Amino acid sequence: MHRRTVLTACLAAPFFPLLARAQGAVDYTMDHAAMGHAMPAAPAAGASPRPPGGAPLAAWPTLGARGELRAAPGLLHWGGGLNTPSWGYNGAALGPLLEWRAGEAVDMTLVNALPEASNIHWHGLEVPASEDGHPRDAVEAGQRRAYRFTVPEVDGLFWYHPHPHGRTAFQVAMGLAGPIRVRGGRSPLPADGIDERVLMITDQRLLADGRIAPHSDADWMDGREGDLLLVNGQYQPVLSVRAGGWLRLRLINACAARYLHLSLPGHLWRQIGADGGWLEQVQAPVKQLLLVPGERADVLVALDGAPGSRAVLQSLPYVRGKMVSAEQSRPEPILSVHYQRTAAQARPPLPRRLADIAPLPAPAVRREVVLSETMSMEGGKHQMAFLINDRRYDDMNRADFTGKVGEVEEWTVHNRSDMDHPFHLHGAAFQVQWRQASAQHPRTPETLRAWRDVVNLKPGESLALRFVQRLPGDRLFHCHILEHEDQGMMATLRVVG
Ligand code: C2O
Ligand code: CU
Ligand code: CU
Repeated sequence: MHRRTVLTACLAAPFFPLLARAQGAVDYTMDHAAMGHAMPAAPAAGASPRPPGGAPLAAWPTLGARGELRAAPGLLHWGGGLNTPSWGYNGAALGPLLEWRAGEAVDMTLVNALPEASNIHWHGLEVPASEDGHPRDAVEAGQRRAYRFTVPEVDGLFWYHPHPHGRTAFQVAMGLAGPIRVRGGRSPLPADGIDERVLMITDQRLLADGRIAPHSDADWMDGREGDLLLVNGQYQPVLSVRAGGWLRLRLINACAARYLHLSLPGHLWRQIGADGGWLEQVQAPVKQLLLVPGERADVLVALDGAPGSRAVLQSLPYVRGKMVSAEQSRPEPILSVHYQRTAAQARPPLPRRLADIAPLPAPAVRREVVLSETMSMEGGKHQMAFLINDRRYDDMNRADFTGKVGEVEEWTVHNRSDMDHPFHLHGAAFQVQWRQASAQHPRTPETLRAWRDVVNLKPGESLALRFVQRLPGDRLFHCHILEHEDQGMMATLRVVG
């Protein structure tokens, strides 16, 4: 029997114990009293009430390196009478754009006005382990704590989100996440003729009454996708552009599980940066860009449309081996680009070289990391587990590996499962060395040198990556499909001085 058929049959059985099993006594339902332990049926895909679209893309509220992030429940007003109780930082959903400079001293206070423990992880930034939102370092409901560190010497786009033990998927689904733009050094790009936008893409699923739909059993297997694609929290907004120049998009895939396969018909993408900042050179133009959960990309789009014309930024289908839910079958619109009627402006030429990325030298340590999923009938119940090296993350103090500050590590990561998994590492950016589609395929050396902190692995794929941890402490590595992370596809690299 095909795997999907098996799983669908399992799901149809009553008391499918995914939730009870995943995190012990934790109940993921949003309305405990009303629902008890029975999960409501997942609303059919595409069933969320539609908020009105078409509003101009709003500017981000911003905050510098010192300030307060108040995580609190709020009410999101979509317009048209649709309201959603949600969680946000300093607002009803998402948080401000943090604008930082390399070398600057950060002093941000998390005020936890949520009904449960939370914390903040500064995704992609090399900050001391004690300040990086380890699940051990929880800020209890009603408490506050300051995060203090120096912004590393980088120039790139990062993001912040909660990382509490077993509750990341839930808290992010409720709306907690925000972007961080770090400027460092001098930009290699021309000063004029470039319109820069930070686009944080998320997805959401609502019940008919506007409340955020609880996680379904299928969500815990496949990772939760919502049928409403949002950009900067807005539903299908409009970005007004002037013909002729460059549109610089700083993109973040902040979806729990959705793979973004981006396209803007009639336009080409030239990638200039990855997770950790600049690439060495402007890349050749391409029609599509794949951005996996947690990943960022910096791209230039030539604004070649005619004054008065329109185009729709969309996410094309991508098959990622989902076990239960259907794969995306049609393009999903995200944002409309409207060309103003004004005459086209001149497009400035681009530099040949953007930055230098020194290749990491030969490793002092080599390790193997295996991502796997297993299904069993333990105790007469259908169980699913997401594992790293055959273990589930169920002990926040366990070290799965011990490494040394300053040593080059080379990890070979294998995806021995039937689903794509986006691999993420805390504390250091890495360079991918080679990829191998399966054991039967040759290794393909990675020609594009880039600093990354998220890399996708297709089923059966292996790849090697190198990095150096420059600070001591416990650093997590995990699948960035948040439901897989919460269920244990996560482990610890203990870095000692
Ligand atoms: Cu954005 Cu440990 O994750
Ligand atoms: Cu991270
Ligand atoms: Cu995964």
